Amino acid sequence: MLLLRSTSGLNWECTIATITYTEPFSSSGLKGFFLFSHDLNPMTTTTQIAPKIVANLPQVGSTPLLLINSLSTDRVRIWAKAEWQQPGGSVKARAAHAIITNAIRSGKLHKQNTLLDASSGNTAIAYATLLRHIGWKPTICLPSNASAERKNILRALGAELILTSPLEGTDGAQEVARTLHAAHPEQYYYADQYSNDANWQAHYLTTAEEIWTQTKGQITHFVAGLGTTGTFVGTGRRLKELGHIELVSLQPDHPFHPLEGWKHLATAHRPGIYDDTVADKSLIIDSSAVFDMIRFISAHEGLYISPSGAANLLGAKEVASGIKDGDIVTTLADTLDRYTEIKKEIFGI
Ligand SMILES: Cc1ncc(COP(=O)(O)O)c(C=O)c1O
Repeated sequence: MLLLRSTSGLNWECTIATITYTEPFSSSGLKGFFLFSHDLNPMTTTTQIAPKIVANLPQVGSTPLLLINSLSTDRVRIWAKAEWQQPGGSVKARAAHAIITNAIRSGKLHKQNTLLDASSGNTAIAYATLLRHIGWKPTICLPSNASAERKNILRALGAELILTSPLEGTDGAQEVARTLHAAHPEQYYYADQYSNDANWQAHYLTTAEEIWTQTKGQITHFVAGLGTTGTFVGTGRRLKELGHIELVSLQPDHPFHPLEGWKHLATAHRPGIYDDTVADKSLIIDSSAVFDMIRFISAHEGLYISPSGAANLLGAKEVASGIKDGDIVTTLADTLDRYTEIKKEIFGI
């Protein structure tokens, strides 16, 4: 047994024969510095080195704010955050980064256990993409009717997939994740994006601040659909503190809607982080109009937006029709490239 003392005063014991923790640091030139024995408490050890692990995660956020010219007038402008321009290709990079960072810093997620969560796709891809940078892999409970391409992307990123009932959607996937965690609490860190405060806090700290800066404080309305509700609740809470801004939440018109990522809250499990006092107003989106909006934006803006992005723009358009002046901001969570069946149905490609 060897006792190492760093310049910062932290001690590490190690048994030279059981070197296990070198690979996350090999690219940062620290290889061989952190050597741990299996007989140390992994949580304590990870807490000590958490800042170094977290520093190896890629940056998220800082997405462009696009003016959607074809839906704007001189006096009422509609803007959209290009959230697909992040690691993993979606808005969920923000929540996943915050959830992983918090869990590593608190010692709940470490090299000896595995991040476990339920997701319909984007959060899972964000977890797998971010964790790859530190050599870790998530376990994901995913409804079995998720598209083949999603499953392929996740498997290629090294995620372990547990396929759950297609009839029960992400609510059923959450039940499976909860049960698995209860049976093996040592093996898994259950991230639970639906109840994890780091989810909405990511948007409170980043999305809202970016929007405020990018609109130079001119934003009058924020409009967004509800999935885990992290985007709307977190961004909305901070924007309300920054200015006099109307917050409009959106929901699909029926439980079997085509808006992947959104929840029909009347019939779904209510996410733990949802706060129905944040919205000033709620609108129901006609999901049969979504494909036309995807076509319209492709033709006029050259963007292949996804169903949830199109639904957000339908909501923004409805808000625009009721005001004389304003700057309405929404989000485009991901692109149509992640929905090849829909892309084929709409564009034949
Ligand atoms: C495509 C898409 N749109 C919208 C959302 C909703 O975002 P939030 O979970 O922050 O409510 C999600 C969430 O997974 C999503 O994947």
